[in-house]
Amino acid sequence: MIVVTAATGQLGRRVVEGLLERVPAGQIVAAVRSPEKAADLAARGVLVREADYDRPETLKGAFGAGDVVLLISSDLVGGRLPQHVAVVDAAVEAGVARIAYTSLLHADTATVSIAPEHKATEEHIRASGLPFTFLRNGWYSENHAAAIAQGAATGSIFGSAGEGRVASATRDDYAAAAVAVLTGEGHENHENTVYELSGDLAWSLPELAAEVSAVAGRPVSYQDLPVEDYERLLAEAGLAPELAAAYAGFDVAIAKGEIGDATGELRRLIGRPTTPLRDTVAALLGDA
Ligand SMILES: NC(=O)c1ccc[n+]([C@@H]2O[C@H](COP(=O)([O-])OP(=O)(O)OC[C@H]3O[C@@H](n4cnc5c(N)ncnc54)[C@H](OP(=O)(O)O)[C@@H]3O)[C@@H](O)[C@H]2O)c1
Repeated sequence: MIVVTAATGQLGRRVVEGLLERVPAGQIVAAVRSPEKAADLAARGVLVREADYDRPETLKGAFGAGDVVLLISSDLVGGRLPQHVAVVDAAVEAGVARIAYTSLLHADTATVSIAPEHKATEEHIRASGLPFTFLRNGWYSENHAAAIAQGAATGSIFGSAGEGRVASATRDDYAAAAVAVLTGEGHENHENTVYELSGDLAWSLPELAAEVSAVAGRPVSYQDLPVEDYERLLAEAGLAPELAAAYAGFDVAIAKGEIGDATGELRRLIGRPTTPLRDTVAALLGDA
């Protein structure tokens, strides 16, 4: 069986859809916090099991011997290490064949705030002795949806990333990579392999503004701010203080080049180019 955790999330749903194109529905398990949210998948023949990262008792029945498991990282930033550890420990106990984990681009060296939990999860998986595949996902292009909408509406995009570059790809691209490593066989079984996944082309925020301008048909400029000013702007726009700090921190990481590495590994894994930024901007602005 191929088991996908968090299968009712945005990435998880895309992974299940990709799997359904390759393997019979009866070989796919959606392991989810709320089984009722996966009723549509159950109706299509996907097996649905309860798997709440916060309730280890549900994780015991979520995996079986010989399963290939995709652990999709939790969205509980700052509290997800114990959740991931619980999933890995349950997978070991069940005797799964391999675990794939959605980590972060260069998780072992990145300094961005979300890196330590990914690095520690990877270390726990290595120490568990399970065969593993690390999908070190770079930035989602969709992370910039709010900036893209704001640029189209007001003509300005704000940030503090300077000329730093982002090698982003879409959730569809990363989901396709997960499908490739979950279904790989023979020499392509992806065992004990680390993939540094990112978009084919890195772009800067001024270039993002130019893309938005081209799609929206109006001048759009990028306004670079000192990081404290950008954080304050985000807070004034309604973001909780810790989120405003986290988002401003992401721009610092972009400025340092931490998510600008266009490795080409995602393109190789999925056998096609990653989705161009222009297509994502057009889709988000409803022009696709
Ligand atoms: N690389 C990037 O740029 C980037 C950007 C955003 C997120 N991420 C990471 O990638 C992950 C997947 O992204 P996404 O877009 O699919 O996020 P998402 O749509 O917010 O999905 C998060 C998923 O985590 C599940 N989840 C949360 N707490 C759980 C728990 N206690 N037990 C079981 N499942 C739990 C949610 O379950 P429900 O469906 O029941 O709510 C949901 O399915 C995120 O969780 C985050 O770690 C990366």
